[in-house]
Amino acid sequence: MEKVKKQIGKVPPHRGDVKDISKDDILIIGGGGREHAIVTALRKSPRVGDIYAAPGNAGMNVIETGISATDIKAIVEYAVSHKNIKTVIVAPDDPLAMGLVDELTSRGIRAFGPTKAAARLEWSKAYAKDFMKKYGIPTAEYASFTDPEKAKAYINSLDYRVVVKADGLALGKGVIVCEDKAGALSAVDEIMTDKKFGSAGNEIVIEQFLTGYEVTLLAFTDGEHYSSMLTSCDHKRAFDGDKGLNTGGMGAFCPCPTFTKELLEKTEKTIVAPTVAAMKKEGTPFKGVLYFGLMVDGDDVRVVEYNSRFGDPETQSLLPLLNSDIYEIFNACIDGTLDKLKIEWSDKKSINVVLASGGYPLSYKKGCVIEGLDALDDNVSVYFAGVKKCPECGKLVTNGGRVLCVQAAADDFASAKRAVYDNIAKITFEDCFYRRDIGSKLN
Ligand code: AMP
Ligand code: GLY
Repeated sequence: MEKVKKQIGKVPPHRGDVKDISKDDILIIGGGGREHAIVTALRKSPRVGDIYAAPGNAGMNVIETGISATDIKAIVEYAVSHKNIKTVIVAPDDPLAMGLVDELTSRGIRAFGPTKAAARLEWSKAYAKDFMKKYGIPTAEYASFTDPEKAKAYINSLDYRVVVKADGLALGKGVIVCEDKAGALSAVDEIMTDKKFGSAGNEIVIEQFLTGYEVTLLAFTDGEHYSSMLTSCDHKRAFDGDKGLNTGGMGAFCPCPTFTKELLEKTEKTIVAPTVAAMKKEGTPFKGVLYFGLMVDGDDVRVVEYNSRFGDPETQSLLPLLNSDIYEIFNACIDGTLDKLKIEWSDKKSINVVLASGGYPLSYKKGCVIEGLDALDDNVSVYFAGVKKCPECGKLVTNGGRVLCVQAAADDFASAKRAVYDNIAKITFEDCFYRRDIGSKLN
């Protein structure tokens, strides 16, 4: 087990060893691979003491509170009654959309993440599209509807391919990319009449299909200033060659080599800076991590989606390349002093691959024993997601669709990729599957 501990997200000792420095205890909300990567980055800060999690997972080596990420009341009570907790970091979309940051702030607790009103950029696609239109931020043509018949009439009036999207949060699955008009009309029925995504589909957005390649750009922002992170590329479909259903993400690499410095400058000027400024102007300044899902076609860059948080699995490739103290960055975002920080990134290349349970993103088995983690090389990290310790046998078992993520960074993508796939081959659990083509176009 010692070796496993060493590999899992490269977990350093529970408390940092730097003496004579005051340390803050932290509560992180969430329990997936993304949160595991955030905790691993936080542990590098000499200012971070004990880390609590709601709920956390078996690999994070944190104090598990036993509270779920969406039990807003219990989280607030826990934070209020544990005076040692200095900051709460809210990573997933649901608690942000439920207003956890607002609740914590109103009780005098420091929280990292946007308010409910700012997080609306993610939890309402119709709002996000109207916002972009109002401020001239480049995105696809669209219209929003609450009436299915009007939506169908609009589709029939168009001469281009469309994408039909549920307005609300739907675990990243509320988007139907339609092949033709008939597919688009039945997508309207699935979302609005059959309620495939529940009340998330009470309103829909019908959008022009964009061609190009997708890039994720994240930015830290304090409501006024921003700092772009490195770009990354997610792989959303379940199977090799971008086949199969959309998932939460099956692997990522960072940075995206085709996204040049010139494209970044253009994106900052036409998308990132206007978004931050417009949110402030709307009276809902965005503090936290802004996620720009971009479609790039030549030198044309448009927003496909906003998220109000770190991406998963992009974060597991991205944060290992952060050379600055993430706790200092979180504090600067909360305090509005991000412009005072110089944030440094490694120039290494990073890649991660998700190991999932057979059947994901639909139904899958849980409770399968995971083996081989003690045989992994030192040059890879493992981030846990759907994993728990079996109370009866004490072994690690599967407990979700996306189970683990294996990541490596190296001077070149080929070496990083080799390290990841060589080590994945050592891990076994029943019905495990993963994509074998993450980063295959890189070299
Ligand atoms: P979203 O949740 O809005 O990012 O959509 C999920 C995925 O659907 C995206 O990552 C794209 O692959 C695809 N998608 C969404 N909107 C469009 C669009 N307008 N054109 C082409 N593909 C899209
Ligand atoms: N990887 C996509 C997301 O986090 O929404």
